[in-house]
Amino acid sequence: MPDRVYRNLGMELVRVTEAAALSAARFMGKGDKEGGDRAAVDAMRSVLKSVPMNGVVIIGEGEKDEAPMLYNGEKVGSGQAPEVDVAVDPVEGTRLFAYGRPNSIAVIAVAPRFAMWEPGPSLYMDKIVVGREARDAIDIRLSATDNLHRIGEALRRSVSDITVFVLDKPRHQGLIAEIRKAGARVSLQTDGDVMGALMAAVPETGIDVLMGIGGTPEGVISAAAVKALGGGMQGRRTPQKDYELEALKAINNTDIDRVLELDDMIRSKDAFFAATGITDGPFLEGVHFDCQGGVTTQSIVIRALSGSIRFIRGVHQLNPEHVFGNVDIDQAVRIAVN
Ligand code: FBP
Repeated sequence: MPDRVYRNLGMELVRVTEAAALSAARFMGKGDKEGGDRAAVDAMRSVLKSVPMNGVVIIGEGEKDEAPMLYNGEKVGSGQAPEVDVAVDPVEGTRLFAYGRPNSIAVIAVAPRFAMWEPGPSLYMDKIVVGREARDAIDIRLSATDNLHRIGEALRRSVSDITVFVLDKPRHQGLIAEIRKAGARVSLQTDGDVMGALMAAVPETGIDVLMGIGGTPEGVISAAAVKALGGGMQGRRTPQKDYELEALKAINNTDIDRVLELDDMIRSKDAFFAATGITDGPFLEGVHFDCQGGVTTQSIVIRALSGSIRFIRGVHQLNPEHVFGNVDIDQAVRIAVN
């Protein structure tokens, strides 16, 4: 398996997430999860054709919610080298964007072919994510309290000065109580643990750690970002539904409880991660329509091999006839490709 992609695909990948975000953005706040997701999927699929790579979708996302999606195994890209694995989430945080809440993003991750872990029927996993300074301190087998003390030591900070991102779900009641008892601060968010992982892995975002159970596909996408950022992450499949457990048993998966290290989820030195904000958040601005005659986007693109992190603010001009009209999918794709 090649351990690197011999071309920097990062800037091409930003055009993919920009197109998805631009297409979804018109649906923001309209309560239509499905409509926005479909628009983002269609735009992503269309722009992916222009990316110079021979890609296979490993994570199409969407199975858990039966949402519109790019399919696992689908071929994407122009068909030319390099051969790569692709993970997408055209709208990460569909509920967030449907109700106009912060932090919904369009995301893509790419790694050399066969480098990405394929989660099969696993829908949920337990995750712990930290930035570079604390990456050797985490151990998902230990309690949240122990992890917080170890992370505090690594960051040379008291546990009471650590902020933990946790999804606000009933399954996390015990975890939240334990974190509070240990003295740390909890940032409870209804959705969007890829953003949580990103913020935990980037210093000075206000989030130091992500803990708790979220989607497995989102876990693999997060792993690409954390790897590219030099942070630390572990995961462990934690089925939440009976049919999920049955499906895992049916494929004779005997090591469901195995701890997955970052290098198990992304088995390569190289990986790309790109995300564009759909709704505003503390880390990425969403799509704004208040720029004279145009639309603005904000994206981040990261490459593991070089460690480069780029924040890209796009100001996209609309065709004059579209200024008062919708940014439909064709328009979003044209904007992103040109
Ligand atoms: P969607 O974009 O598919 O709606 O996922 C949002 C999300 O909050 C993820 O960030 C997270 O990993 C997962 O859902 C958690 O799943 P659930 O809401 O079923 O607990």
